[in-house]
Amino acid sequence: MTTTASLDFDHVELLIGNVESAADANAKAVRNTVLSPRFYTTDFAAMDRLNIESVRAEWDVMMKEYEGDNNHDHFQRDAQFAEEVKTLMPQLSPEMRQEFLDFLISSLTSEFSGCILYNEIRKNIDNPDIKQLMTYMARDESRHAGFINQSLKDFDLGIDLGQLKRTKAYTFFKPKYIFYATYLSEKIGYARYITIFRQLERHPDKRFHPIFRWFERWCNDEFRHGESFALIMRAHPHLLRGGNVLWIRFFLLAVYATMYVRDHTRPLLHEAMGFKSTEYDYEVFRITSEIARQVFPVELDIDHPGFRAGMSRLVELSIAHAKAKERGGVLGLIGQATSALGAVWTFGRLYFLPVKRNTLPSQIRVQPAW
Ligand SMILES: [Fe+2]
Ligand SMILES: [Fe+2]
Repeated sequence: MTTTASLDFDHVELLIGNVESAADANAKAVRNTVLSPRFYTTDFAAMDRLNIESVRAEWDVMMKEYEGDNNHDHFQRDAQFAEEVKTLMPQLSPEMRQEFLDFLISSLTSEFSGCILYNEIRKNIDNPDIKQLMTYMARDESRHAGFINQSLKDFDLGIDLGQLKRTKAYTFFKPKYIFYATYLSEKIGYARYITIFRQLERHPDKRFHPIFRWFERWCNDEFRHGESFALIMRAHPHLLRGGNVLWIRFFLLAVYATMYVRDHTRPLLHEAMGFKSTEYDYEVFRITSEIARQVFPVELDIDHPGFRAGMSRLVELSIAHAKAKERGGVLGLIGQATSALGAVWTFGRLYFLPVKRNTLPSQIRVQPAW
């Protein structure tokens, strides 16, 4: 029962929860679960002390790109957008509609999470390099979040971003954890969007919503955000050595596993695009792992049979957990505890699988060529 194909709709509903009203959509964005995007805060004084002089040449080229702002006119809907929404959205089945809404809400939450974090750092530091960078990245993320919100408003499910900012819980991460996690989520964001864009470029008949036409230029923003964190980490090489390599392995696995389990709650969405969730996720892992060689001295062996089996097992356990929760009572509690323990055990086994070693390249930046 491991694969996408065997996930039935009841289980999917259990995992993603139906959205029927704007209140549901807002509640979903506020809720923190193991799988949902979070909001972060960090140690601003430590952020203020960052020094990027050792990567100055590459940094300045990147800052010029931000300044050039080649996407300043990109996040605007054209007349065709509205037309496509009007014709295509009524054709979605109720299950597919739920998966698509879940996709929009979680994407918006993670775009907005970046926006808030970058903005808070900007406001709380004086370091001119980092302050400038945060200003540009917050600018981009705010456009991204706003653009997705317009599509939710088409369903009358707009998210109140001010309210979300005030009510969602914040997780504190030391700067180094912010770097590992945010670098990965930016690069994975790029890999996800470009994989969808390329697929729908090949199969335009499967483009069931116009927002996907925006993904190519959009994901170049995410790619550049990732480049920024790559440069910051390479400018502080102790973050990439010794005991910190264990943290890098942890974040790689946590980010990959979360994405994998979450994506397997949306089999219809991927099927509509002509993918299987598993195949889509491994393509995203492959691209992300290739890019991350610019900064991480290790990469996960995503083709190791133990890795593949462990990821599938996490999906099974997540379904078992949701079913036990719904069952309730003592048996439900036992079921939840057993599946949670199973997930920790499986995660631990995945963590100790052999990894591949990389030598870091002298030129840090890479081009978004996927
Ligand atoms: Fe973004
Ligand atoms: Fe981003």
